[in-house]
Amino acid sequence: MALPSTKMPVVFYSMVLLIINNCIEAVSVRGDYHRTGFHFQPLKNWMNDPNGPMYYNGVYHLFYQYNPNGTVWGNIVWAHSVSKDLINWNGIEHAIYPSKPFDKFGCWSGSATIIPGKGPVILYTGVIDENNTQVQCYAEPEDPNDPLLRRWVKPDKLNPAVVDKDVNHTEFRDPTTAWWGKDGHWRMLVGSVRKRRGIAYLYRSKDFKTWVRAKHPIHSKGGTGMWECPDFYPVSVIGNVVGNPVKHVLKNSLDDTKFDYYTVGTYLEDKDRYVPDNTSVDGWGGLRYDYGNFYASKSFFDPSKNRRILWGWANECDKPIDNFRKGWAGIQAIPRTVWLDFTGRQLVQWPVEELNSLRGKEVNIDNQRLEKGDYSEVKGITAAQADVEVTFSFSSLDKAEAYDPKWVKAQDLCAQKGSKLQGGVGPFGLLTLASQNLEEFTPVFFRVFKSPNKHIVLLCSDARSSSLKSDLYKPQFAGFVDVDLAADKKISLRSLIDHSVVESFGAGGKTNILSRVYPELAVMNQAHLFVFNNGTEPIVVQNLKAWSMISADIK
Ligand SMILES: *[C@@H]1O[C@H](CO)[C@@H](O)[C@H](O)[C@H]1NC(C)=O
Ligand SMILES: *[C@@H]1O[C@H](CO)[C@@H](O)[C@H](O)[C@H]1NC(C)=O
Ligand SMILES: *[C@@H]1O[C@H](CO)[C@@H](O)[C@H](O)[C@H]1NC(C)=O
Ligand SMILES: *[C@@H]1O[C@H](CO)[C@@H](O)[C@H](O)[C@H]1NC(C)=O
Ligand SMILES: *[C@@H]1O[C@H](CO)[C@@H](O)[C@H](O)[C@H]1NC(C)=O
Repeated sequence: MALPSTKMPVVFYSMVLLIINNCIEAVSVRGDYHRTGFHFQPLKNWMNDPNGPMYYNGVYHLFYQYNPNGTVWGNIVWAHSVSKDLINWNGIEHAIYPSKPFDKFGCWSGSATIIPGKGPVILYTGVIDENNTQVQCYAEPEDPNDPLLRRWVKPDKLNPAVVDKDVNHTEFRDPTTAWWGKDGHWRMLVGSVRKRRGIAYLYRSKDFKTWVRAKHPIHSKGGTGMWECPDFYPVSVIGNVVGNPVKHVLKNSLDDTKFDYYTVGTYLEDKDRYVPDNTSVDGWGGLRYDYGNFYASKSFFDPSKNRRILWGWANECDKPIDNFRKGWAGIQAIPRTVWLDFTGRQLVQWPVEELNSLRGKEVNIDNQRLEKGDYSEVKGITAAQADVEVTFSFSSLDKAEAYDPKWVKAQDLCAQKGSKLQGGVGPFGLLTLASQNLEEFTPVFFRVFKSPNKHIVLLCSDARSSSLKSDLYKPQFAGFVDVDLAADKKISLRSLIDHSVVESFGAGGKTNILSRVYPELAVMNQAHLFVFNNGTEPIVVQNLKAWSMISADIK
């Protein structure tokens, strides 16, 4: 009698496997092989901006703009997820949804502020009519002792919190987290535009109830168009720690071009004005958090680990019909720790350390030499769901191609040179989400150029060969990397590969690019990862570590 009972589970097990395989098949037919394994996304439907991220009483909160009823933008509510570690998430009931005259036509983006002695409150944009008239609204937890802050209320006597007749009422949104000034008044910013001038209006309040606009915006810049989702915060000048002395960062999301640019500068507290440093370009040509698909970002301070964390939305690059078929649209980038680079000229970003808890099987490569045209597979990991950290080195910069001063736009230079046009020092890097015979691949790579006084380093994430499917947006994204390669002749790259996203961090997080890609062949266990060199200067993969990534528990 022992035999059948030991055999039974085997039979049962293989039946389960069969069912699982059938499911994978069925899922593949529907195209769900593009769903991410460790990037945050709701179980279904449309998501856009991250809202009100915070850490409170041991719990991380992420709210986000969500359509409960479809895979296109519409019916927007604040969906709400909670986590202990920023990686595994539980979705709970929607926190804010249209229910009052002041938000009947929309509950748009906003931020949380933790008021000492009181707890968290939220300021968000309410839309009051069919003409998109925008006001700022106030919400607070129904029960501040509920550990998950499930239910939020909008007291009538405090709403709408800000109505301003003197601003363009259809371009007036996305209040920031408030901060407390030395004069005992709260301050917060709201994004707007006048003519073509992007504006961050400043409001002050004694009690967080009545808000008065300051005479001058905290900052504005002609020609930049509407500023959405402003974010304003201090960064320490002494690296990856928090504390004095500080510089400030102002980030704005440019509605016209859909990218998040920032400047590093000085906050003149007495005048309540922000002045960008002369090392930061203030406008469309300025620094970006990410040179790829990353928008409407928002940061928060995490007191439990003394760090600032950045969330950003990565939209889809496929068609509405594809999203309808997938049943979902929109993911969040991996939350990133941000700090000021030692040069003081830019920020540095790195995936939060908690992500490492998902690292499974690891493979290593040391000192592998790549001649021009070589590419070599990194075997033994799940290449469709992986974390890769690599350092490339080379012995000389002599062969670097000459830099043409006309090449001011990184993205154009990447378009012109790509990975296929062979160079001097580079292109070298990773071929992610590659099919076995390279019918599909998304290369993430460096190219080094020589200009009269310095070397210019380009990081590209090129989606043009990412999919055999033709009716997709397949941009080549790129940014310049502010490093001095002459000193140590090496550069690092980290890529988080997750089915339909390749999120890369160049030179330790100085230049970052998130690409959304939709391979047809390089999916699931048919995806491969390679290192490659297409320049005449030999490149050494000094060290590469790659991990299969376990799926996060997101429900
Ligand atoms: C959900 O979408 C359907 C189809 O577009 C529509 O008929 C329905 O009114 C929507 N429901 C809500 C709550 O928006
Ligand atoms: C919306 O705009 C239209 C056209 O200007 C106007 O007729 C209508 O009264 C406006 N609605 C509201 C609620 O202001
Ligand atoms: C407000 O902004 C909208 C959209 O940019 C623009 O069409 C309109 O002219 C602006 N209104 C005023 C009064 O400037
Ligand atoms: C930039 O500002 C610094 C002081 O913050 C100053 O020393 C320097 O001369 C300025 N550079 C330019 C080009 O204006
Ligand atoms: C390397 O260059 C060759 C020759 O131009 C090209 O055929 C090949 O596709 C390139 N490799 C990559 C990964 O782009």
